[in-house]
Amino acid sequence: MLERLTAMPADPILGLLTKYRQDPRSEKVDLGVGVYKDPAGNTPILDCVKAAEKQRTADETTKVYIGPTGSAAFNSLTNELAFGPAHPALLANRIRTISTPGGTGALRVAAEFIAKCKAGTTIWVSDPTWANHTGLFQAAGLTVKTYPYYDYDNKCLKFDEMLATLKQIGRDDVVLLHACCHNPSGQDLNTAQWDAVVEVAKTNGFLPFIDMAYQGFGDGVDEDAYGVRAMAAAVDNMVLASSCSKNFGLYRERIGGCSIIAKDSAQADVAQSVLLYVVRCIYSMPPAHGAAIVETILGSAELKAQWLDELKVMRDRINGNRAMLVESLKAAGVEQDFSFIARQKGMFSFLGINEAQVNTLMNDYGIYMVGSSRISIAGISEDNVGYLAKSIAAIL
Ligand code: LMR
Repeated sequence: MLERLTAMPADPILGLLTKYRQDPRSEKVDLGVGVYKDPAGNTPILDCVKAAEKQRTADETTKVYIGPTGSAAFNSLTNELAFGPAHPALLANRIRTISTPGGTGALRVAAEFIAKCKAGTTIWVSDPTWANHTGLFQAAGLTVKTYPYYDYDNKCLKFDEMLATLKQIGRDDVVLLHACCHNPSGQDLNTAQWDAVVEVAKTNGFLPFIDMAYQGFGDGVDEDAYGVRAMAAAVDNMVLASSCSKNFGLYRERIGGCSIIAKDSAQADVAQSVLLYVVRCIYSMPPAHGAAIVETILGSAELKAQWLDELKVMRDRINGNRAMLVESLKAAGVEQDFSFIARQKGMFSFLGINEAQVNTLMNDYGIYMVGSSRISIAGISEDNVGYLAKSIAAIL
């Protein structure tokens, strides 16, 4: 049987991790996978997570199956985080949320759920989008098409073109939107642009599917959820995939959530039954540990305040790194305008160099980034920014 297989190429993002780890050069710089790093280049466990884990270990009484919905406390507390505690859709009992193995698990479950609504549904994703979106949706049998999004020449949003395309999309299709910190471009919709997209979704009736993997990494927890809250207040049906990998630093614990917003509570119950069927057929039920940490933090005023402080430290550092890179490129004699990097949001931006230049940076300088020239801003530090800027200046 196995002789029928042909080898798959390494994942464009995760494959970089292996290459970087094998590189013996001491000056190497990792701008590949989207993982937060402190000034020393480490990805520490948040103090609030450590405290919650300690508490949890002391209090835990059983390891019995948690069930396919995952933790009810996690689902309800993360609903409040995403939608805000008094959101009309929550008050009307129109939202059903399940805990999932990471944000990717949430996306895949949502994709399978959409396929149950209508097999082969077309899902429109931004051009560009996270490299894994396309494969993941196709694996669920969905047809993937793109709408215009990032203007590579002018380093901004192609908003008019985006809106014009969305206006052509009707009731049978799904539109995937990034809630904040667009991966890979860092170029987000502002609130007026969100309002315009919400209006089109309302008029045309397509299913909005929002991926929120970076809540709190852009402008703040509530600010970053603007689009999610506005959309959920305006439409009958919506899907949300969220992740606790980045904002709680729980990458390897694999914890996220998948929410379906239905027209009313009865429709939400039907949707939930389909979600649970999908989950049972893929992984039966989610792991419990990550959810337990998050619900312990969000359920305690003290730990939540500590988490918000630690999240702000990560956000401020990333924004600081953006400004630092722009200044260092200037100081290294680069005349090209890179100021867009300081205006963009979240973990990523495109450097805007070609693939040959990306490869030269990797092979000759030990600087690792995705082939599209997406850089993970968190990998920049006071220690490496000078070397990074000089190397970029050399290859431009
Ligand atoms: C990224 O885009 O680098 C992260 O979301 C990690 C991943 O799984 O790709």
